[in-house]
Amino acid sequence: MDKIRLAIVGCGVMGNRHLNGLIALHKSGFSNIELVSACDPIIENAEALAKRAEEFLGNKVKPVPKLSDLKSLGVNAIDITTVPWTHHNIAIEAMQMGINVMVEKPMGLTMKACKLMLDEAKRSGCVFSVAENFHYDPINIIGKELIKSGAIGNPRLMIQNNIGGGDSIIVTPWRHYKKGGGPLLDVGVHYSYIVEYLMGEVDSVHAHTRLHEKVRRNAQGEIKADAEDAVYATLLFKNGAVGQYVEDHAGHGQGLWQRSIYGSKGSINLPGDRSGKPINLIIDGKGMTKDDEMLELITDYHLNNITAKLFGGERICHYDLPFAEIDSGLLAIEYYDYAEAIQNGRTPSVDPIMATRSVALIYAMLESAKIGHAVSMDEIMNEEITGYQDEINDLCQW
Ligand SMILES: NC(=O)c1ccc[n+]([C@@H]2O[C@H](COP(=O)([O-])OP(=O)(O)OC[C@H]3O[C@@H](n4cnc5c(N)ncnc54)[C@H](O)[C@@H]3O)[C@@H](O)[C@H]2O)c1
Repeated sequence: MDKIRLAIVGCGVMGNRHLNGLIALHKSGFSNIELVSACDPIIENAEALAKRAEEFLGNKVKPVPKLSDLKSLGVNAIDITTVPWTHHNIAIEAMQMGINVMVEKPMGLTMKACKLMLDEAKRSGCVFSVAENFHYDPINIIGKELIKSGAIGNPRLMIQNNIGGGDSIIVTPWRHYKKGGGPLLDVGVHYSYIVEYLMGEVDSVHAHTRLHEKVRRNAQGEIKADAEDAVYATLLFKNGAVGQYVEDHAGHGQGLWQRSIYGSKGSINLPGDRSGKPINLIIDGKGMTKDDEMLELITDYHLNNITAKLFGGERICHYDLPFAEIDSGLLAIEYYDYAEAIQNGRTPSVDPIMATRSVALIYAMLESAKIGHAVSMDEIMNEEITGYQDEINDLCQW
């Protein structure tokens, strides 16, 4: 089958990490993609990425400043790795040209942006995928299989807690501005995706948010943050389970990570994403479960060929790899899935509706905190409650 002719659009930090993913895909022997172009209005960024790509992938890669330059190069798929407030305009313009799209998380800056993209994907018939790399982490796949197998009985409670960060700038200043979505969206959308991936759909949310650290610092200086940096929420799942969600990017003192699910027969604790550490499964009367016992519970668990190759086997329970290799490996799998979806005309593994819901869950928390009572996911998905997002939509050019 012909390889997908791809352009990376946005050649900053994540564009370059995605290139590492393409290099890992190339080395894996599973490559179904040819990188044809690198696109960025800052042409030096596009040139630098193209140069590195040529060195490692061995084919010519054309740097261009505009999306409209891609059609004449025979590009049939793009990967958008630009800042969040640009995602919808780029995705829609590409799909209007008949070009398939994969876009970095968060899929869109607000529900309005997500809906516009979903509408254009439907109208154009283009494949539309979201680069939610945590979806492909074998440890999350095992977690989902364990819950599905009934190993812990009926899930009753999920705890998703993450505390740390103090007053430091998270990677780049834009992550602290409402116009950029703020850290709760930019970081939290990974967690909200995994919450529904593991537990099924959330029904309603009641949350409190805070902007604790109004001044953020790094070695380059200080910035004034205007986006909330902490949320404390209770979730109600459609299956009746309850969730506790804490995402606090202003935590001082002891940091905290916890992703636990308690059921009617036992519990599982999942490690940090991309760590490869083992899942801790405790079943009543049996204590901690060993690897081979865990595998006996999940007979359906088989990683696909490329994941098995990059992470060390079809039925691994954990992995021990350098972070750079884990990161590029997951991005390689994500690319492989995207290209296969285009080649086979199937829905990508990260379904855009699920990706929209991951944005909706974060806004459910922010909207709930603004109006002071619980909100349903339907009210957010249907854009019936938008008070918090209205301000962000007003800041955006549509
Ligand atoms: N999945 C992950 O693990 C992960 C990690 C970091 C960032 N991200 C996501 O990746 C995206 C990019 O973040 P980043 O940190 O790389 O940002 P960045 O600021 O480093 O890079 C963005 C690049 O996009 C370019 N750009 C801006 N407008 C453009 C346009 N219209 N067309 C083409 N290029 C354009 C900029 O010139 C810049 O080179 C964000 O959505 C972020 O949330 C994901």
